[in-house]
Amino acid sequence: MLNADRDLHLREKIAALKQERKALILAHNYQLGEVQDIADFGGDSLELSQIAAKTDAEVIVFCGVRFMAETAAILCPDKMVLLPDVNAGCPLADMITAQSLREKKQELPRAYVVCYVNSPASVKAESDVCCTSANALKVVEKLSSNDDILFVPDQYLGHYASSRSGKKLILWPGFCPTHVRISPEDILRQKEQYPKAKVLVHPECKPEVISLADEVLSTGGMCRLAAKIEAEEIIVATEVGIIHRLSKENPDKHFIPASLEAICPYMKLITLEHILHSLEEMKYHIRVPEEIRLKAKSAVEKMLEFG
Ligand code: 13P
Repeated sequence: MLNADRDLHLREKIAALKQERKALILAHNYQLGEVQDIADFGGDSLELSQIAAKTDAEVIVFCGVRFMAETAAILCPDKMVLLPDVNAGCPLADMITAQSLREKKQELPRAYVVCYVNSPASVKAESDVCCTSANALKVVEKLSSNDDILFVPDQYLGHYASSRSGKKLILWPGFCPTHVRISPEDILRQKEQYPKAKVLVHPECKPEVISLADEVLSTGGMCRLAAKIEAEEIIVATEVGIIHRLSKENPDKHFIPASLEAICPYMKLITLEHILHSLEEMKYHIRVPEEIRLKAKSAVEKMLEFG
Protein backbone atom coordinates (compact mmCIF):
# COMPACT_ATOMS: atom_id res chain seq x y z
CA MET A 1 0.00 0.00 0.00
CA LEU A 2 1.27 3.50 -0.82
CA ASN A 3 2.11 5.71 2.16
CA ALA A 4 -0.75 8.15 1.47
CA ASP A 5 -3.26 5.27 1.17
CA ARG A 6 -1.91 3.68 4.32
CA ASP A 7 -2.28 6.96 6.29
CA LEU A 8 -5.82 7.46 5.00
CA HIS A 9 -6.71 3.92 5.99
CA LEU A 10 -5.23 4.44 9.48
CA ARG A 11 -7.01 7.77 9.91
CA GLU A 12 -10.35 6.21 8.93
CA LYS A 13 -9.91 3.32 11.33
CA ILE A 14 -8.92 5.68 14.16
CA ALA A 15 -11.97 7.91 13.49
CA ALA A 16 -14.36 4.94 13.58
CA LEU A 17 -12.88 3.44 16.72
CA LYS A 18 -12.74 6.81 18.42
CA GLN A 19 -16.52 7.12 18.03
CA GLU A 20 -17.14 3.59 19.19
CA ARG A 21 -15.00 4.09 22.33
CA LYS A 22 -16.35 7.63 22.99
CA ALA A 23 -12.75 8.76 22.99
CA LEU A 24 -11.10 12.14 22.73
CA ILE A 25 -7.62 12.50 21.22
CA LEU A 26 -5.38 15.19 22.70
CA ALA A 27 -1.99 16.07 21.19
CA HIS A 28 0.77 18.21 22.63
CA ASN A 29 2.29 20.84 20.34
CA TYR A 30 5.54 18.81 20.06
CA GLN A 31 3.88 15.70 18.59
CA LEU A 32 4.52 14.52 15.03
CA GLY A 33 2.53 16.54 12.46
CA GLU A 34 0.35 13.56 11.48
CA VAL A 35 -0.58 13.06 15.15
CA GLN A 36 -1.38 16.76 15.69
CA ASP A 37 -3.54 16.64 12.56
CA ILE A 38 -5.83 13.84 13.73
CA ALA A 39 -6.22 15.12 17.31
CA ASP A 40 -9.46 16.69 18.53
CA PHE A 41 -7.40 19.30 20.36
CA GLY A 42 -3.78 20.36 20.30
CA GLY A 43 -2.19 22.51 22.95
CA ASP A 44 0.32 23.11 25.70
CA SER A 45 0.38 21.30 29.04
CA LEU A 46 -2.02 23.72 30.72
CA GLU A 47 -4.52 23.84 27.85
CA LEU A 48 -4.61 20.05 27.53
CA SER A 49 -5.13 19.50 31.26
CA GLN A 50 -7.97 22.06 31.21
CA ILE A 51 -9.62 20.24 28.28
CA ALA A 52 -9.17 16.87 30.01
CA ALA A 53 -10.78 18.26 33.17
CA LYS A 54 -13.92 19.33 31.25
CA THR A 55 -14.49 16.64 28.64
CA ASP A 56 -17.52 14.30 28.58
CA ALA A 57 -15.55 11.67 26.67
CA GLU A 58 -15.12 8.30 28.40
CA VAL A 59 -11.60 7.71 27.11
CA ILE A 60 -8.76 10.20 26.65
CA VAL A 61 -6.00 9.18 24.25
CA PHE A 62 -3.15 11.41 25.39
CA CYS A 63 -0.55 11.97 22.69
CA GLY A 64 2.23 13.49 24.73
CA VAL A 65 4.49 12.17 27.46
CA ARG A 66 3.66 10.24 30.62
CA PHE A 67 3.42 13.16 33.09
CA MET A 68 0.79 14.80 30.83
CA ALA A 69 -1.34 11.65 30.75
CA GLU A 70 -0.87 11.31 34.51
CA THR A 71 -2.13 14.88 35.02
CA ALA A 72 -5.26 13.99 33.03
CA ALA A 73 -5.68 10.83 35.17
CA ILE A 74 -5.28 12.93 38.34
CA LEU A 75 -8.05 15.29 37.22
CA CYS A 76 -10.39 12.67 35.67
CA PRO A 77 -10.51 9.53 37.85
CA ASP A 78 -13.71 8.34 36.14
CA LYS A 79 -12.13 8.40 32.66
CA MET A 80 -9.75 5.96 31.08
CA VAL A 81 -6.55 7.81 30.12
CA LEU A 82 -4.42 6.05 27.50
CA LEU A 83 -0.81 6.83 26.56
CA PRO A 84 -0.26 5.27 23.10
CA ASP A 85 3.42 4.48 23.74
CA VAL A 86 4.38 3.26 27.18
CA ASN A 87 7.98 4.46 26.67
CA ALA A 88 6.99 8.12 26.18
CA GLY A 89 8.58 9.49 29.34
CA CYS A 90 10.16 12.85 30.21
CA PRO A 91 13.84 12.98 31.31
CA LEU A 92 13.18 16.24 33.21
CA ALA A 93 10.35 14.60 35.19
CA ASP A 94 12.73 11.73 35.99
CA MET A 95 15.24 14.15 37.61
CA ILE A 96 13.20 14.13 40.83
CA THR A 97 11.53 11.46 42.98
CA ALA A 98 9.07 11.72 45.86
CA GLN A 99 11.77 10.36 48.20
CA SER A 100 14.40 12.92 47.14
CA LEU A 101 11.84 15.72 47.53
CA ARG A 102 10.85 14.48 51.01
CA GLU A 103 14.53 14.56 52.02
CA LYS A 104 14.89 18.14 50.74
CA LYS A 105 11.75 19.17 52.62
CA GLN A 106 13.31 17.85 55.84
CA GLU A 107 16.26 20.19 55.24
CA LEU A 108 13.84 23.07 54.54
CA PRO A 109 10.89 22.47 56.89
CA ARG A 110 9.29 25.87 56.18
CA ALA A 111 9.50 25.56 52.41
CA TYR A 112 6.47 26.04 50.18
CA VAL A 113 6.91 23.69 47.22
CA VAL A 114 6.06 24.79 43.68
CA CYS A 115 6.17 21.87 41.30
CA TYR A 116 6.46 22.17 37.54
CA VAL A 117 3.91 19.90 35.88
CA ASN A 118 6.82 18.04 34.20
CA SER A 119 7.14 15.77 37.24
CA PRO A 120 5.79 12.40 38.44
CA ALA A 121 2.38 12.31 40.19
CA SER A 122 4.10 11.21 43.42
CA VAL A 123 6.17 14.42 43.39
CA LYS A 124 3.07 16.55 42.79
CA ALA A 125 1.56 14.80 45.81
CA GLU A 126 4.44 16.12 47.95
CA SER A 127 4.02 19.69 46.61
CA ASP A 128 1.85 22.65 47.59
CA VAL A 129 1.04 23.97 44.12
CA CYS A 130 1.74 22.97 40.55
CA CYS A 131 2.57 25.21 37.62
CA THR A 132 3.13 24.91 33.90
CA SER A 133 5.33 27.03 31.67
CA ALA A 134 2.22 29.13 30.90
CA ASN A 135 1.58 30.16 34.50
CA ALA A 136 4.83 29.61 36.48
CA LEU A 137 5.46 33.35 36.77
CA LYS A 138 1.85 34.06 37.80
CA VAL A 139 1.93 31.30 40.43
CA VAL A 140 5.27 32.47 41.89
CA GLU A 141 4.14 36.12 41.92
CA LYS A 142 1.16 35.19 44.12
CA LEU A 143 3.22 33.48 46.82
CA SER A 144 4.10 35.12 50.10
CA SER A 145 7.75 36.20 50.27
CA ASN A 146 7.90 35.20 53.94
CA ASP A 147 8.28 31.51 53.19
CA ASP A 148 11.18 29.67 51.61
CA ILE A 149 9.98 28.73 48.13
CA LEU A 150 11.36 25.52 46.68
CA PHE A 151 10.86 25.26 42.91
CA VAL A 152 11.14 21.75 41.40
CA PRO A 153 12.40 20.19 39.17
CA ASP A 154 13.32 22.65 36.35
CA GLN A 155 16.05 25.07 37.46
CA TYR A 156 15.74 27.20 34.31
CA LEU A 157 11.99 27.73 34.50
CA GLY A 158 12.51 28.46 38.22
CA HIS A 159 15.31 30.92 37.41
CA TYR A 160 13.06 32.68 34.89
CA ALA A 161 10.13 32.93 37.36
CA SER A 162 12.50 34.17 40.07
CA SER A 163 14.19 36.84 37.95
CA ARG A 164 10.91 38.17 36.51
CA SER A 165 9.03 38.16 39.84
CA GLY A 166 11.92 39.34 42.01
CA LYS A 167 11.18 36.43 44.40
CA LYS A 168 14.04 34.35 45.74
CA LEU A 169 13.51 30.68 44.87
CA ILE A 170 15.45 27.62 45.93
CA LEU A 171 15.97 25.70 42.68
CA TRP A 172 16.09 21.96 42.11
CA PRO A 173 18.93 21.16 39.66
CA GLY A 174 16.76 19.58 36.91
CA PHE A 175 16.64 20.65 33.26
CA CYS A 176 15.06 19.67 29.94
CA PRO A 177 17.79 18.01 27.79
CA THR A 178 16.03 19.24 24.62
CA HIS A 179 15.78 22.92 25.59
CA VAL A 180 19.34 23.13 26.93
CA ARG A 181 20.54 22.14 23.46
CA ILE A 182 19.49 25.58 22.21
CA SER A 183 22.43 28.00 22.61
CA PRO A 184 22.67 31.80 22.42
CA GLU A 185 24.85 31.28 19.31
CA ASP A 186 21.92 29.50 17.62
CA ILE A 187 19.71 32.55 18.14
CA LEU A 188 22.44 34.99 17.08
CA ARG A 189 23.12 32.96 13.90
CA GLN A 190 19.43 32.99 12.95
CA LYS A 191 19.16 36.70 13.81
CA GLU A 192 22.06 37.41 11.45
CA GLN A 193 20.21 35.66 8.63
CA TYR A 194 16.78 37.07 9.56
CA PRO A 195 17.51 40.45 11.19
CA LYS A 196 13.85 41.52 11.26
CA ALA A 197 12.63 38.31 12.88
CA LYS A 198 11.01 38.30 16.33
CA VAL A 199 12.43 35.76 18.78
CA LEU A 200 10.05 33.58 20.84
CA VAL A 201 11.70 31.53 23.59
CA HIS A 202 10.33 28.78 25.86
CA PRO A 203 11.14 29.38 29.55
CA GLU A 204 12.81 25.95 29.88
CA CYS A 205 15.73 27.45 27.90
CA LYS A 206 18.86 28.64 29.66
CA PRO A 207 18.93 32.27 30.97
CA GLU A 208 21.46 33.34 28.31
CA VAL A 209 18.98 32.24 25.60
CA ILE A 210 16.02 33.82 27.42
CA SER A 211 17.92 37.11 27.55
CA LEU A 212 17.82 37.21 23.70
CA ALA A 213 14.03 36.75 23.55
CA ASP A 214 11.45 39.27 22.40
CA GLU A 215 8.83 37.15 24.19
CA VAL A 216 9.09 34.22 26.63
CA LEU A 217 6.09 31.93 26.26
CA SER A 218 4.66 28.45 26.71
CA THR A 219 4.02 26.60 23.45
CA GLY A 220 0.34 27.59 23.65
CA GLY A 221 1.36 31.22 24.20
CA MET A 222 3.61 31.02 21.12
CA CYS A 223 0.68 29.77 18.99
CA ARG A 224 -1.60 32.58 20.20
CA LEU A 225 1.01 35.30 19.74
CA ALA A 226 2.06 34.06 16.27
CA ALA A 227 -1.49 34.65 15.02
CA LYS A 228 -1.48 38.33 15.96
CA ILE A 229 2.17 39.41 15.76
CA GLU A 230 3.04 41.71 12.85
CA ALA A 231 6.44 40.16 12.07
CA GLU A 232 6.63 37.94 8.99
CA GLU A 233 9.67 36.02 10.25
CA ILE A 234 9.69 34.41 13.67
CA ILE A 235 12.57 32.51 15.30
CA VAL A 236 11.22 29.83 17.61
CA ALA A 237 13.36 28.55 20.47
CA THR A 238 11.65 25.38 21.61
CA GLU A 239 11.12 21.79 20.44
CA VAL A 240 10.82 21.72 16.64
CA GLY A 241 7.44 19.91 16.56
CA ILE A 242 5.65 23.20 17.18
CA ILE A 243 6.72 24.50 13.74
CA HIS A 244 4.09 22.20 12.16
CA ARG A 245 1.18 23.90 13.95
CA LEU A 246 2.60 27.42 13.65
CA SER A 247 3.12 27.08 9.88
CA LYS A 248 -0.26 25.43 9.32
CA GLU A 249 -2.16 28.12 11.23
CA ASN A 250 -0.13 31.03 9.79
CA PRO A 251 0.74 30.14 6.17
CA ASP A 252 1.78 33.73 5.42
CA LYS A 253 4.52 33.73 8.08
CA HIS A 254 7.93 32.08 8.13
CA PHE A 255 8.84 30.20 11.31
CA ILE A 256 12.50 29.45 11.83
CA PRO A 257 13.50 26.83 14.42
CA ALA A 258 16.31 28.26 16.59
CA SER A 259 18.00 24.85 16.45
CA LEU A 260 17.13 21.75 14.44
CA GLU A 261 18.73 19.76 17.26
CA ALA A 262 15.96 20.66 19.66
CA ILE A 263 14.07 17.41 19.17
CA CYS A 264 12.50 15.52 22.06
CA PRO A 265 12.82 11.83 21.10
CA TYR A 266 10.07 10.85 23.55
CA MET A 267 7.53 13.22 22.01
CA LYS A 268 8.22 11.59 18.64
CA LEU A 269 7.46 8.04 19.78
CA ILE A 270 3.72 8.25 19.17
CA THR A 271 2.58 7.45 15.62
CA LEU A 272 -0.79 6.86 13.93
CA GLU A 273 -0.18 3.11 14.28
CA HIS A 274 0.30 3.52 18.04
CA ILE A 275 -2.91 5.53 18.35
CA LEU A 276 -4.87 2.87 16.48
CA HIS A 277 -3.33 0.13 18.62
CA SER A 278 -4.10 2.16 21.73
CA LEU A 279 -7.80 2.38 20.80
CA GLU A 280 -7.99 -1.27 19.74
CA GLU A 281 -6.35 -2.69 22.87
CA MET A 282 -7.22 0.16 25.30
CA LYS A 283 -3.53 0.55 26.08
CA TYR A 284 -1.57 1.90 27.92
CA HIS A 285 -3.93 2.70 30.75
CA ILE A 286 -2.33 5.34 32.98
CA ARG A 287 -3.41 4.96 36.60
CA VAL A 288 -2.39 6.93 39.66
CA PRO A 289 -2.86 5.26 43.07
CA GLU A 290 -5.81 6.96 44.83
CA GLU A 291 -3.84 8.22 47.84
CA ILE A 292 -1.28 9.92 45.57
CA ARG A 293 -3.97 11.13 43.17
CA LEU A 294 -5.91 12.99 45.86
CA LYS A 295 -2.83 14.82 47.16
CA ALA A 296 -1.54 15.59 43.63
CA LYS A 297 -5.01 16.80 42.63
CA SER A 298 -4.99 19.43 45.32
CA ALA A 299 -1.69 20.87 43.94
CA VAL A 300 -2.98 20.76 40.34
CA GLU A 301 -6.35 22.29 41.25
CA LYS A 302 -4.64 25.07 43.17
CA MET A 303 -2.80 25.87 39.93
CA LEU A 304 -6.01 25.78 37.85
CA GLU A 305 -7.60 28.25 40.29
CA PHE A 306 -4.84 30.70 39.30
CA GLY A 307 -6.31 30.52 35.77
P1 13P B 1 4.30 23.68 27.30
O1 13P B 1 3.42 23.57 28.50
O2 13P B 1 4.80 25.07 27.05
O3 13P B 1 3.68 23.09 26.10
O4 13P B 1 5.64 22.88 27.61
C1 13P B 1 5.61 21.53 27.81
C2 13P B 1 6.94 20.94 27.89
O5 13P B 1 7.07 19.84 28.35
C3 13P B 1 8.10 21.67 27.44
O6 13P B 1 9.21 20.85 27.41
